[in-house]
Amino acid sequence: MDTRTALLTRRTIHDFTTAPLPEGAVERALEAAIRAPNHKLTNPWRFTRVGAATRPLIVEIGLEEKRKKRGELSDAAQATLRKKFGNPPELIVVSQVLDADPHRRREDYAAIACAIQNLHLSLWSEGIGSKWASGAMTHAPDTYKAVGIDPQVEEIVGFVWVGYAEVIPDTPRRPLAEVVRTTE
Ligand SMILES: Cc1cc2nc3c(=O)[nH]c(=O)nc-3n(C[C@H](O)[C@H](O)[C@H](O)COP(=O)(O)O)c2cc1C
Repeated sequence: MDTRTALLTRRTIHDFTTAPLPEGAVERALEAAIRAPNHKLTNPWRFTRVGAATRPLIVEIGLEEKRKKRGELSDAAQATLRKKFGNPPELIVVSQVLDADPHRRREDYAAIACAIQNLHLSLWSEGIGSKWASGAMTHAPDTYKAVGIDPQVEEIVGFVWVGYAEVIPDTPRRPLAEVVRTTE
């Protein structure tokens, strides 16, 4: 897939199959991620690949965060969430090493956003879907504990769920004419 096709066709995937990923696809995506621009070469990103023993903890944290928001969950709602958090064959927690300087922190966050996009596009170029999620479960204290990240040192920027799409959604954009200005 050429770069432009990847850029234009990539979509955030919300529903994943359990199909395993090809050998090395995640490593190739991580290689692409760390090639992202980063000012002062701070390499502010850290990627934690969530292993099989930790995933069930993440699923439970996800359910608990939903309960806090919506109250007790029906069996059907639980089943849907278990599928949502359990199906994707790979979960990568992306975190930012916290710099003391607020300006540097902002730039580092921007660099990590670029890295996540590289990650998405590398996967997409191989036909693999992904999703950047930043919901409550991604910053719950229990998540930090489960994945071994010290919140004094790193901040979780998001989860990247990875797998094959069950459905590829279509997400519109406002047309260029509405978002581009040209000065005299
Ligand atoms: C910083 C950031 C956080 C996001 N967090 C979530 C999230 O928590 N849940 C979700 O469903 N999508 C999340 N997304 C994905 C966006 O919803 C998605 O990019 C948007 O709907 C456009 O869809 P597309 O990526 O298919 O073009 C996030 C995207 C970004 C950039």
